[in-house]
Amino acid sequence: PILPVILSGGSGTRLWPLSREGYPKQFWPLVSDRPMLAETAARAQGPGFAPPLVVCNEAHRFLVAEQLRPFAGSRILLEPKPRNSAPAIAAAAVVAAEEDPATVLWLLAADHAVADLPALHAALARAAVAARAGRIVTFGMTPTAPETGYGYIEAGAELPEAPGVRAVARFVEKPDAATAARWLAGGRHLWNSGMFVATAATLLGELERHAPEVLAAARRAVAGAKRDLGFVRLDAAAFEAAPSISIDYAVMEKTARAAVVPASLGWSDIGSWAALWEARAKDAAGNVVEGPVALLDSSGCYVRSEGILTGVVGLQDAVVVVTDDAVLVMPRERAQDVKALVERLRAAG
Ligand code: GDD
Ligand code: MG
Repeated sequence: PILPVILSGGSGTRLWPLSREGYPKQFWPLVSDRPMLAETAARAQGPGFAPPLVVCNEAHRFLVAEQLRPFAGSRILLEPKPRNSAPAIAAAAVVAAEEDPATVLWLLAADHAVADLPALHAALARAAVAARAGRIVTFGMTPTAPETGYGYIEAGAELPEAPGVRAVARFVEKPDAATAARWLAGGRHLWNSGMFVATAATLLGELERHAPEVLAAARRAVAGAKRDLGFVRLDAAAFEAAPSISIDYAVMEKTARAAVVPASLGWSDIGSWAALWEARAKDAAGNVVEGPVALLDSSGCYVRSEGILTGVVGLQDAVVVVTDDAVLVMPRERAQDVKALVERLRAAG
């Protein structure tokens, strides 16, 4: 069976004020009525899958355990501090390899939406064939905007051993705006979805080659781990010694084993309120509303209230989010700037 490894360490700053340090976005129901982490685990459930392994910050252990309760046999790997995705993935690969280095891992982000499950599972089946042949397989999404927050993939020839999977000619993480615009116009590049498929042995080999300090720290952190109540607590000193780097920079930009399965999945990295509005079904006026909300003569809006009755009149393309202790109001096109707002709030204490 394929081992789903769910990365649940992001902080979701741009979804403030709902997403907070102690309760980041993956623990909220944003796209459906189920929290995003549980939704992700459900995506990797069934006869072909082992119970999931979740990697998260130890501060979130009870939130994660609660959401994984319906998924029998799941395991939770706890990080003392976030060190970005490469150390998290390395630790998961070390744990999986202890059992069987040939295990195929499916690395999943806890905070993405995928609308077309059958298409996702079909793409995964193709990816697994290439993974068993020693590849690290990404899912290639067709770009729709000159996004600079994604990895860009230039696909090469189809692999003879894996139909529907192509070699990666070049992987570039988060290109600058001019490059992203050029690649979007060129029509030859794909976005990296942030999901990966590879065997534990392949991941360990490529980490050894391209990020040996990350792997060494992960090995020591797993060797010194304390196991209690279904939690695997990584050794703090060892794990914190790992360089803080994403798998995209540490391995994907460098490895010769990258491959891509181009797919149309209805995928969205729910990175901002605008992305959430985009991914959701809208009413006739193009609004998405959540909670006790009344709208008049408004269109293209995302309006969400966690409890307080909220009225909106005559707004176009706006975002309004009301929680117990904070309110956010902005034009939808400014959704990326919430990050700067949160930084300003932090600086102000
Ligand atoms: N456990 C753990 N610990 N998970 C982490 C950590 C960490 O320290 N840091 C990040 N993650 C998880 C996040 O929760 C998310 O599920 C995943 O790893 C990716 O991290 P992000 O920080 O969201 O990365 P990104 O969005 O900037 O870029 C990645 O995703 C894009 C698609 O959404 C890259 O893979 C890009 O190439 C890709 O296009
Ligand atoms: Mg992300």
